[in-house]
Amino acid sequence: MPRTKVKVIVTRRLPEPVETRMSELFDTELNTTDAPMSLDQLADAASRCDVLVPTVTDKIDGRVLARAGERLRLIAQFGAGVDNIDVQSAVSRGVTVTNTPGVLTEDTADMTMALILAVPRRILDGAAALQSGQFTGWTPTWMLGRRIHGKRLGIIGMGRIGQAVAKRGKAFGLQIHYHNRKPVRAATAEALEATYWDSLDQMLSRMDIVSVNCPHTPATFHLLSARRIKLMKPDAYLVNTARGEIIDEAAMIRALEAGELAGAGLDVYENEPVVNPKLRVLKNVVLLPHMGSATLEGRIDMGEKVIINIKTFIDGHKPPDRVIPAML
Ligand code: 8YV
Repeated sequence: MPRTKVKVIVTRRLPEPVETRMSELFDTELNTTDAPMSLDQLADAASRCDVLVPTVTDKIDGRVLARAGERLRLIAQFGAGVDNIDVQSAVSRGVTVTNTPGVLTEDTADMTMALILAVPRRILDGAAALQSGQFTGWTPTWMLGRRIHGKRLGIIGMGRIGQAVAKRGKAFGLQIHYHNRKPVRAATAEALEATYWDSLDQMLSRMDIVSVNCPHTPATFHLLSARRIKLMKPDAYLVNTARGEIIDEAAMIRALEAGELAGAGLDVYENEPVVNPKLRVLKNVVLLPHMGSATLEGRIDMGEKVIINIKTFIDGHKPPDRVIPAML
């Protein structure tokens, strides 16, 4: 790396302490408007820096990388998911890719649990009814939702976030089931009293609540296909705080409209930031704007990880959060 200050370009606004520290340490170019960059702007940025700090909103594909030229050495993603980056293409060009795992686990799991509660217990319906003056007194049959305790929670993807969701689910009296590429360690499974399903199809047909917590990779694109959504029970709920692309969104909407699914709690969408208008008018959904990791503490911790990844890389060490294509 050059002996002069390393040139770092950050594609979006980051929390103030993160931007300040990055500016102290590196020759940092910030995006003070916070406007998402076009492909041309990303390619231009990538050609003018040693280190690019993108987020989920920046598509760093082969075209951007091809135009980056020789200078770019590190892509230090601000985020855990890296499905916006063509990691294989970056690595084959000698560009290292890092991410920020771990520090957003608890926040994302909290938001997942919030959706698991919000949809069956109709929290938004109740709040909206009250705010619009419809609460005229308690009634035995008004605002009835469905019980959480004792139900089966099926977690797809039992990594850090999946396990953190499982812990919360267990504390709420849910029975924990999961599908993963391989079973978790025996001690973890025992502590969570978690049942492993090798067959996603079989798990789906038996769950009351399904939570998507796996990364989006070519292998998980539309993992919840139209066929698999049909396997779910009509009184089941679907929660997704991972990536929209993992669910065939059109098929999910059809199932929600047809009463083949009881409801959905979604934080992510297939074509963000566009949200299918058919989804927006459904009554049996709670829709959030990709805010699973949106806590001040979480975003500062993510920034700290980005800084550590850049610093160790500049100092000639392997950054702690390198993304290896084979992991994807
Ligand atoms: C991040 C996320 O805030 O980290 C992730 O994978 O989904 C979000 O919570 C976003 O990706 C920032 O790049």
